[in-house]
Amino acid sequence: MGQRDEHERFDRKIEAMGVRIKDANTVKVRDDVFDEVTLLALYKLVQKKLITVIGGPISTGKEANVFYGERDGQGLAIKIYRIQTANFKAMNEYLAGDRRFSSVRGTRKGLIFAWTKKEFSNLARAHEAEIPAPEPLAFDRNILLMEFLGRDEVPYPQIRNAEVEDYGKVYREILGYVEKLYREARLVHADLSEYNILYHEKPYLIDMGQAVTLDHPRASVFLVRDIKNLNRYFSRYCDVVDEEEIIGTLVGTGRREP
Ligand SMILES: Nc1ncnc2c1ncn2[C@@H]1O[C@H](COP(=O)(O)OP(=O)(O)O)[C@@H](O)[C@H]1O
Ligand SMILES: [Mg+2]
Repeated sequence: MGQRDEHERFDRKIEAMGVRIKDANTVKVRDDVFDEVTLLALYKLVQKKLITVIGGPISTGKEANVFYGERDGQGLAIKIYRIQTANFKAMNEYLAGDRRFSSVRGTRKGLIFAWTKKEFSNLARAHEAEIPAPEPLAFDRNILLMEFLGRDEVPYPQIRNAEVEDYGKVYREILGYVEKLYREARLVHADLSEYNILYHEKPYLIDMGQAVTLDHPRASVFLVRDIKNLNRYFSRYCDVVDEEEIIGTLVGTGRREP
């Protein structure tokens, strides 16, 4: 079947599901993202009425694409992990050491599905600990649905592009999130940076696919890297707390709990 036919078939299928496609028709994006497996996952989510509108692309990252969507007028972020082009060797390191997913073996597809589930589960734990982060709504295969953080279909900016009035305050807020993530959600983000923090009135943590439980053999290495990243960025704008002091407080020496 030619590509043109393939695309028409794709559009017909999607339309038959009763989903409106808003300018998601960049051919390149479609080829990479919407393979058969992804389409099937999308159908399922639509059939379950978890998606009623698929909007335009918000982001094309190394592993995933994010699209805007809606469920009954409510904004959604639809994150689709690419099966063909994701860097699954790098992903494996974060999966294998995490007890929740250590039994995942084998195919590229299986790994990506596990990864998607892992991000869902990490977001759920963060949300439960009341850390500002997108609420996870559903997942199927390589697609994750979550609360859209933004307004009028425009996502809140990454903190590196946001206008922040009081950097000291925001820095302390984020440290608080990292602490809560560690103590309550029992997770280390493991990719904390000015790219994975959105900002609107307060900071929000996003992108938790790689976050690991504390029993991961490299959890503390990831924690140190996260804090270093945070300090590297914020030290341009405000005073930062000494890295060792932060770690010390977190991992127990100066544990201040009832
Ligand atoms: N829940 C969300 N609400 C709004 N925008 C989002 C959401 N999740 C992701 N985005 C947008 O997509 C971009 C990439 O998302 P991210 O989860 O960081 O994926 P990647 O793994 O590609 O870095 C973010 O910087 C943000 O602009
Ligand atoms: Mg990211």
